[in-house]
Amino acid sequence: MRIGILTSGGDCPGLNAVIRGFAKYVYNNIPRVEMIGISDGYGGLITGEAKNLKESDFSGILNTGGTILGTSRQPFKMMTVEDQNGQSKLEMMKANYKKLDLDLLVTLGGAGTHKTAGLLSANGLNVIGLPKTIDNDIYGTDVTFGFHSAVEIATECIDRIHTTAASHGRTMLIEIMGNKVGWLTLYSGIAGGADIVLLPEIPYDKDEVCRMVRSRYNSGKDFTIIAIAEGAMSREEAKMKKNERIEAWGGRHTATESLAAYIQEHAEVETRVVVPGHLQRGGAPSPYDRLLSTEMGSFAGKLVQEECFGTTVAVKNNQISYNKLADIAGKTKYVPEDDQMIEVARSIGISFGDGKKFKGLK
Ligand code: F6P
Repeated sequence: MRIGILTSGGDCPGLNAVIRGFAKYVYNNIPRVEMIGISDGYGGLITGEAKNLKESDFSGILNTGGTILGTSRQPFKMMTVEDQNGQSKLEMMKANYKKLDLDLLVTLGGAGTHKTAGLLSANGLNVIGLPKTIDNDIYGTDVTFGFHSAVEIATECIDRIHTTAASHGRTMLIEIMGNKVGWLTLYSGIAGGADIVLLPEIPYDKDEVCRMVRSRYNSGKDFTIIAIAEGAMSREEAKMKKNERIEAWGGRHTATESLAAYIQEHAEVETRVVVPGHLQRGGAPSPYDRLLSTEMGSFAGKLVQEECFGTTVAVKNNQISYNKLADIAGKTKYVPEDDQMIEVARSIGISFGDGKKFKGLK
């Protein structure tokens, strides 16, 4: 059996651990397996750049960050667009799958990768997906690998900012990755003891944020920690078109700097912005992610054995499982407004900048 494997989209801790878990499972349990590593995500499948891997290539990578296969972003909307020769990327991928004589393609990636995996599957390729992303936004799975490692990194950033914020009596805004969903900001914000957590799913009231900062100040706490997601925005900004927002933010792609300036002016406190950025995606996976990645990788091996194609691995109610690609591709798992963690946060006085009060735990 010839298995092509690729990692696509933004990298995250745990990719190599999944690749290793999968490879070890198939070498140990399926006869005559050949593994073909496709370079740089769907980019390599489009150009046909791939190489035969040996069993030893999968050793010593459990705790390494990044991906041994390389990755790239290939927007889904471009997949069916024809080039000057009248060929689409989809057609090129189908042709290379055939040329490489693959029986199966394993794709490790996020929401975009799953959309393309769904398209390839609908076009007759045997595909099995694995849910990667620090954003934790893949529909149909409780958790994605990489998420908890990023929560650890972002939490450590918030911890470190806490001490300097307290020393200087400043309001610090820590911009956490997540341009569409706020899981990482919610979890690291709570774990890091943030006072205000701003998510893309809950547009905030700028004056309510200032009121919170001021009320902390007036009660003798002269510093405030704000965990703000890349995609968070005010209620007014949420009604604007993307280019209007960017203009309102002085040409920046996030609201963080402009909100910091607003707080400094209206709450009359000194503010600073910290952007940990890609640090949140780098380095070794946490032990939790090594376990999850190994479990997900080996489960994908079982799906291969059972020829359960057109699927992607998932965790549902703490049980390893899978979804059909057709059921989840193109959907996003947003933070629901009534999520238990939102209520937990409200119950201990964390503000989401929306002025809403704690309603009670489920
Ligand atoms: O999807 C993962 C993610 O890290 C997002 O949280 C972030 O907004 C985006 O990727 C950044 O993408 P890039 O690495 O292409 O700048």
